Amino acid sequence: MLTLREATLADSPRIGVIGRDSFGPTLSRVLFPANLQNRARTDVATEEAEWRASRNSRRMKDGKKTFVVVDKLEDGSEHIVGFAQWETPESLPANIEHKTANEADIDVLPPSLDQDALRRLVKDLEVVTERALGKEGHSQMWYLMILGVDPDQKRRGIGKMLVKYGLEQAAKENRDAFLVATPEGKYLYSTFGFEQVGDEYLLGDVPHYPMLWKRPREAGEVLG
Ligand SMILES: CC(C)(COP(=O)(O)OP(=O)(O)OC[C@H]1O[C@@H](n2cnc3c(N)ncnc32)[C@H](O)[C@@H]1OP(=O)(O)O)[C@@H](O)C(=O)NCCC(=O)NCCS
Repeated sequence: MLTLREATLADSPRIGVIGRDSFGPTLSRVLFPANLQNRARTDVATEEAEWRASRNSRRMKDGKKTFVVVDKLEDGSEHIVGFAQWETPESLPANIEHKTANEADIDVLPPSLDQDALRRLVKDLEVVTERALGKEGHSQMWYLMILGVDPDQKRRGIGKMLVKYGLEQAAKENRDAFLVATPEGKYLYSTFGFEQVGDEYLLGDVPHYPMLWKRPREAGEVLG
């Protein structure tokens, strides 16, 4: 049975693994390129998962809302199958620009990570966001930083549960929501009423789409 709960720091290692596995064909190819990986593939894979786990923990400590969907197994144990992390207006540090611009410098970075690619990615996201939303960016919105589902567990409604829950929280706080979608996520978001704002942009060779969701102006259920 699938249930959604708030993440704890103890969930970070598993979140790191799901992040690595779900972004393998897209972002991971840009951030962990083959030319830096003149090493055992398994070491690189471990490094990526650990880096993602520590980044997740740091963001949670910074107050980013993080939710997981768990599959309750028959023996009572639980298995995390997907996660979402949101930046909310309350979780913005006063000096967010400084922090965001230097996100690549905050974490311990593994040797297999292309640090220039990470910096470019952070910068590109800022530019795309400003182009889509203006100077204020998503500072007054719920911003979906990352959503990942275990590749073996796709199409069970896990992504949908995570997006729906986040949007319900945003609506309760009278906030709109913003994200930059991968091609795989785009359709799911559009079913909730997210609309593309601004041009698509390429990350490596993968197109990404800035998308905005406007909260229901009347009290009502979040669709999707
Ligand atoms: C995008 C992602 C989160 C979707 O998770 P998921 O749990 O498989 O999605 P759901 O099962 O909740 O799908 C809900 C609906 O979205 C649509 N959808 C989901 N994946 C789709 C796909 N690959 N192609 C077309 N439609 C898709 C479908 O309408 C689906 O409903 P249906 O199965 O009843 O037709 C998952 O594929 C993933 O982790 N991808 C890699 C990482 C990524 O791109 N994350 C998004 C970053 S913005």
